[in-house]
Amino acid sequence: MTTHHLLLLPGDGIGVETMAEVERIIAFLNEKSGVTFKTESDLVGGAAYDAHGVAITDEAMEKALKSDAVIFGAVGGPKWDGVPYAVRPEAGLLRLRKDLGLFANLRPAICYPALADASSLKRELVEGLDIMIVRELTGGVYFGEPKEIVTLEDGQKRAVDTQIYTTHEIERIAKVAFDLASKRSNKVHSAEKRNVMRTGVLWNEVVTATHKTYAPNVELNHILADNCAMQLVRNPKQFDVIVTDNLFGDVLSDEAAMATGSLGMLPSASLGAPDPATGKRKALYEPVHGSAPDIAGKNLANPIATIASFAMALRYSFDMGKEADQLETAIANVLDQGLRTGDIMQPGMKQVSCSDMGAAVLAELGKLAA
Ligand code: IPM
Ligand code: MG
Repeated sequence: MTTHHLLLLPGDGIGVETMAEVERIIAFLNEKSGVTFKTESDLVGGAAYDAHGVAITDEAMEKALKSDAVIFGAVGGPKWDGVPYAVRPEAGLLRLRKDLGLFANLRPAICYPALADASSLKRELVEGLDIMIVRELTGGVYFGEPKEIVTLEDGQKRAVDTQIYTTHEIERIAKVAFDLASKRSNKVHSAEKRNVMRTGVLWNEVVTATHKTYAPNVELNHILADNCAMQLVRNPKQFDVIVTDNLFGDVLSDEAAMATGSLGMLPSASLGAPDPATGKRKALYEPVHGSAPDIAGKNLANPIATIASFAMALRYSFDMGKEADQLETAIANVLDQGLRTGDIMQPGMKQVSCSDMGAAVLAELGKLAA
């Protein structure tokens, strides 16, 4: 019997509640799927800071490195606004990404038919929307050095962040985008700011060259990142796969996510390079939404993004495409039945709690798997 090792890092705020719903799904699969998931949990973010004074401990990092996949909740909140920059809650997530080498962040923006009216865009613009944003995750301005605030002789301060990209970093993320596109609608938009940034010029060159040698049959379009932001709200369905750098990807993925109706719906996968010996990739799965401190601990959160992130883990880390499909169908069915958490509530629908939503998805999964 196959055993997979998962590290659960619920983190802060609603991460704790939404992870509890994933644990119920895991328990179900352990009983029914013929595969065993062994789980360990640890602290990250503000919770780790409160307990240990750091955003993630070396021991937790060790566990993450040894696990087959990390399932992550959310980090941060106003409680930790004053903590030193180096140990702020987000630093835990950034260390996980960097130390696990998770350079490829896959952020699908899918509009469930039942939710088309929850979008701030018109139904006809978003109905059937299915975009995959491929965000470079271990380079660019998030990690480039120098990164500092220095005091000048005249007492003024100067802040510096550094945007760096190498050929290798651009090429490997472009390949991920081309591979995904070839299994979807075969179209990639590469977004940068070559009109202002040298990294944009190199990004454009390397993506073009990679396209020529690696994936000439995929349609490639270059788009300026600001225009991409505009087009995402003007006509989002023109996009299939969007590949972009770390910072633009952060912004564009929030924008695309909102077009689908709620940030509370969207999962993500962060993948490393395949291990040359085993072919396995290090991986972390997390909802795109944050810790939502305003509703935390009240059983109001939407667990769908975290559950859907676990579905991505089934698909990308464990080759359990059938179970992933079933879990995603279970989510769609529950939405079709009119169940809604507060963030996606609409007139005439039934508002349910986080745990009720989790239970409903589990019940649907039970039917589909029977
Ligand atoms: C995200 C988040 C993170 C990021 C934060 C929490 C550091 O916004 O995953 O998109 O900026 O990458
Ligand atoms: Mg973000």
